[in-house]
Amino acid sequence: MNNDILKTLYSKEDIQTACKRLGKEISTFYKGKTPIVIGVLKGSMFFMADLVRYADIYMELDFMDVSSYHGGLSSSGEVKLVTDITKDVSGRDILIVEDIVDTGRTLKFLMDTLKDRGAKSIEVCSLLDKPSGRVVEASSKFVGFEVPNEFVVGYGLDYDEKYRNLPYIGVLKPEIYSTK
Ligand code: PRP
Repeated sequence: MNNDILKTLYSKEDIQTACKRLGKEISTFYKGKTPIVIGVLKGSMFFMADLVRYADIYMELDFMDVSSYHGGLSSSGEVKLVTDITKDVSGRDILIVEDIVDTGRTLKFLMDTLKDRGAKSIEVCSLLDKPSGRVVEASSKFVGFEVPNEFVVGYGLDYDEKYRNLPYIGVLKPEIYSTK
């Protein structure tokens, strides 16, 4: 698997440093509150797990599975709710945890959905932000790294469902996806 990676963008250590910083920022922002932290599956699974352990506040955890890429390289444009959260978000402070914001479609869908359900506040923490990919307006309050316009995998991010278990974030060799 490691042989398919052209270069490392963020090492394990870089990621932990970012998680620690974001955990502190979140603790300050939500001091005295108990937000519902919603991890967006499957990409955010490792980030969510690391991030919340660096935050020293009360919080409730939930997960939502939405899908947009369908295993390919670029977003199809359609966002589907695959698995819903279990909690009532009405009147609650919500923090959405994403691995990456690219076109912004997933985030817009999530924010619209949670707003419709009466959430009191909705903020976003994204490990990666790719502003060059944006198609709809969507922004994260808490961002780990701004990434260049390259296809990144690892630490939850996949290509064709693979590479999620890479412990770092890297750029895939072009021959891996051009031969498919
Ligand atoms: C990826 C990623 C984000 C979304 C970002 O999820 O995890 O949720 O795409 O892209 P966007 O800003 O263009 O909407 P994906 O739908 O691939 O599902 P996954 O998390 O299971 O990989």
